[in-house]
Amino acid sequence: MPALLRPVVLKEDFFTLRTVLWNEGSVRMIDQTALPQRLTYREYRTWEGVADAIRRMVVRGAPAIGVAAAMGVALAAESSSARTKEDLVRDIEKAAAGLRATRPTAVNLFWGIDRAIEAARKASGGVDGVAKAVVSTAVEMAEDDVQANKRLGRYGEKLLDDGDVVMTQCNAGALATVGYGTALGVIRGAREAGKCIKVIVNETRPALQGARLTAFELVRDGFHCTLISDTAVGHMLSRGLVDKVLVGADRITKDGYVFNKIGTYQVAVLANRHGVPFYPAAPRSTFDLQRVHDKVVIEERPADEVVKVKGRRIAPKGIAVANPAFDETPPELISGIVSDMGIIGRPVDQNLSSVIH
Ligand code: MRU
Repeated sequence: MPALLRPVVLKEDFFTLRTVLWNEGSVRMIDQTALPQRLTYREYRTWEGVADAIRRMVVRGAPAIGVAAAMGVALAAESSSARTKEDLVRDIEKAAAGLRATRPTAVNLFWGIDRAIEAARKASGGVDGVAKAVVSTAVEMAEDDVQANKRLGRYGEKLLDDGDVVMTQCNAGALATVGYGTALGVIRGAREAGKCIKVIVNETRPALQGARLTAFELVRDGFHCTLISDTAVGHMLSRGLVDKVLVGADRITKDGYVFNKIGTYQVAVLANRHGVPFYPAAPRSTFDLQRVHDKVVIEERPADEVVKVKGRRIAPKGIAVANPAFDETPPELISGIVSDMGIIGRPVDQNLSSVIH
């Protein structure tokens, strides 16, 4: 059984959401399955517990799962009874294999695990030195993620004008990262620059990250936001009610394709049809410079997410279900990509390598 302790009602840090925290031998994560009803942390003491949390989407969002997985590796390093560096690295690699098998699409997961393993391999000072190096790498990654999002927010806010109405899909906010957010980081950056931005939040079936999580964050932070059903996207765009679309990303391949939450592609097609700029926003850890788009695995999630709403069955038994969790948007539909290394202008497939290295 994964070590899942009793949820803690969150009091501290209420005004700066920190999704994933290292807490001296345990990992604390906001339970995103309980939002928006309850803001609570769960605490994990084993890598198996962290893997289970990633699979069940207690923690979700590409940068957040990357850092959570690195902290999972750190838990494995700290709890190992190995007496030599070689045995400890073997234990760490076993945990890493389990964590890698949780979700296939967001590249940040693999990036976080790889960095933690690299820290272990390079460390000196015996088993204690290895464990310390892995923990400090994971903790550093958490801090770096927040700083990268803030940088990205400062670059991206320049694309927004005072008074803009921005549409967003899924949750690419503080909850999808360690803090601040990517697409919502750009919106936060615009507000910090004195601009008034209104947000249209797509509900994002089937897991409802828009209705549950983005709406929660934005209402909590006092943004003007309006929730719409996914089926209203075309109508809002065709009526000229949206100035820009901003989304996050789970993986951006070297040929400029953006993998993001299911539904993003149809938003991009409709935005293009109605002349509305479409911008993904992502930190360096989301770029996969090793792969082109047709080599990426799209996660298929359980059928229950589609046939049930709030645990109640809405479709007849016996119906076949497809539940791809992500889709890919090709470069020709993308107006620019906001990253923490600068803005990649269109055509993004040709300009990507001059910004991202
Ligand atoms: O299945 P999820 O909720 O983990 O998917 C998350 C997304 O698709 C987000 O839009 C993406 O990770 C961007 S995160 C800043």
